[in-house]
Amino acid sequence: MSEHPAPADPAAEGIRLQKVLSKAGVASRRAAEQMIAEGRVEVDDEIVTEMGRRIDPATSQVRVDGSRVIVNEDVTHLLLNKPTGILCTMSDDQNRPCIGDYLREHEGLFHVGRLDVDTEGLLLVTNDGELAHRLMHPSYEVRKTYLAEVAAPIEKDLGRRLRDGVTLDDGPAKVDKFKLVDLNGKRALVEIVLHEGRKHIVRRLLEHVGHPVHRLVRTAIGEVRLTTERPGAIRKLDRKEVGGLYKAVGL
Ligand code: URA
Repeated sequence: MSEHPAPADPAAEGIRLQKVLSKAGVASRRAAEQMIAEGRVEVDDEIVTEMGRRIDPATSQVRVDGSRVIVNEDVTHLLLNKPTGILCTMSDDQNRPCIGDYLREHEGLFHVGRLDVDTEGLLLVTNDGELAHRLMHPSYEVRKTYLAEVAAPIEKDLGRRLRDGVTLDDGPAKVDKFKLVDLNGKRALVEIVLHEGRKHIVRRLLEHVGHPVHRLVRTAIGEVRLTTERPGAIRKLDRKEVGGLYKAVGL
């Protein structure tokens, strides 16, 4: 046996907390030290004020001012503006266009829920399985916002009917919010917010109340919003958006 013990693995000893925070984009190392000293940083549910603390970014849960900061560089959160006519699957055995075509450079990711082939808009893509599971589960009540183009006119009591709830083939359904956004001759643009994800739910709800959907766009999930992304564009969520998603599902 060798007389000399193997050198310690630096990764096993962890990385200094201020370095982890600055790598995660929270602040410069100096500013991160200040945050730690002020008691604003938690590691695994414990406030850390000591400066020498080293952590393993792959396994530690870090919060700043109560908001989760993802310090594991292997965890990814993307937004795809799904174009219409694209299947919501990572690969298609019949070679039809699918969202996987847009995500070739990003391995090991999966989409959070589904959009119909002819629905456009915000699709979250991640490799954090627990986050994805919770965002899809209606019990966490994460709100999804849709803009739907439907036939006009819109009856005065339509919002109230949808908020009160209707009975569809597979049971009751209702929206959290309804707003008439625009009225243009024979077409109206309405915004619907709901927190469930049954198949074709927005189309079925609006069809049920006499307003079949001509165009459907998902514009937000929780506080994450589609902004100026072109159809097919992908962007990384920023730290605030990621923190908001974890908070919304209690992670
Ligand atoms: N509701 C629908 O009807 N379609 C979608 O793609 C998403 C929600």
